[in-house]
Amino acid sequence: MSNKAKDAPKQPPIKPATRFVTGGRDPFSYHGFVNPPVYHASTVLYRTAQDYLAHRGRYTYGRRGTPTSDALGEALAELEGPECAGVALLPSGLAAASAALLAALRAGDHVLVTDTVYWPTRKFCDDVLTRYGITTTYYDPLIGGGITELMQPNTRAVYLESPGSLSFEVQDVPAIASAAHARGALVLMDNTWASPLYFRALEKGVDLAIQSATKYIGGHSDLLLGVVSANAAAWPQLNDTVFTMGLWTGPDDMSLALRGLHTMGVRLKQHYEAGLIIARWLEQRPEVARVWHPALPSHPQHALWKRDFTGACGLFAVALKPVADAAVHALINELTLFGIGASWGGYESLAIPFDCSEMRTATSWAPGGPTVRFHIGLEDVDDLIADLERGFAALGRAR
Ligand SMILES: Cc1ncc(COP(=O)(O)O)c(C=O)c1O
Repeated sequence: MSNKAKDAPKQPPIKPATRFVTGGRDPFSYHGFVNPPVYHASTVLYRTAQDYLAHRGRYTYGRRGTPTSDALGEALAELEGPECAGVALLPSGLAAASAALLAALRAGDHVLVTDTVYWPTRKFCDDVLTRYGITTTYYDPLIGGGITELMQPNTRAVYLESPGSLSFEVQDVPAIASAAHARGALVLMDNTWASPLYFRALEKGVDLAIQSATKYIGGHSDLLLGVVSANAAAWPQLNDTVFTMGLWTGPDDMSLALRGLHTMGVRLKQHYEAGLIIARWLEQRPEVARVWHPALPSHPQHALWKRDFTGACGLFAVALKPVADAAVHALINELTLFGIGASWGGYESLAIPFDCSEMRTATSWAPGGPTVRFHIGLEDVDDLIADLERGFAALGRAR
């Protein structure tokens, strides 16, 4: 956890891609080595009893912050921009979402949550928040400023995820944020898909921006970590909640996240470019009914994406023209460069069948055909297309 970034001396203006490389580094504090050391730490020793009693010292206890957590927190805060007052590091993306909700809410409150929310976050609201006397209403992700009509006197938070990570609806974040703020509610958003590189959540009115660092920050499918970045209004309650609950993350995972962050700018650019090429290619396939990729002009909220986002990651979905499940499975099983597995954001491509129809309560999901989610990794695009061609041939044979 860190709130040091706001006190740091002003940096010369640099582009976000450069920030990924420079963030969280201070080589001459560590004998000139490029990367900071990994501090495995619990106890911090004081020189005297008086120092101990006065908590005198830069660090006071392993769970209160170490040079390793500071390096990662500062790098993440720099990426979020000047609105960021502090960053909390959590053991997973789901823990980041849960901790942000717990920080924003108390017994008797009401929270509005997008119907397209990551399903385990929905389960947290339904199972855990309910037990603590907090009620949840799910809303249509496309509601925009109309969210005002769903606000109750006790609505303390509005939770967004844009785009939804299965069906890719893009939300009007500034409109929802200003409606929420007008009623004194905090705005929480899962910004894992775009990251602060492509969507400046805090600038757009979000108070608590959540990312699963498991995805592109880690980038290698070998790490679970979550991040919540807060503005000045939300940081004290986030910091206090996370610390009081004893939530902390191992230093090796923090170090892996920092290492991943330094290459995230170039990786994300490649995921974006390759993903878009493949999404366009899929749009032309006779077997495909539609492609949900916010950067495609055919996406229903493409105009919103263009207004608010500056890029995309490698995650999108397609609806196939109606075929039997066996044909969809034949397509996926034939792929050799696409793994079949949950999560995303690693260097490798993935393809999974999915169905959101059981996950929705405020909206309905009727894609008109079987749906497949793709994550486009860092492989050569031509190889991925050749692999997909073989997959569609298998689908044709299994029809
Ligand atoms: C949009 C989104 N948010 C949060 C999470 C949870 O992340 P983690 O696996 O790090 O708990 C996921 C995981 O797939 C996700 O897709």
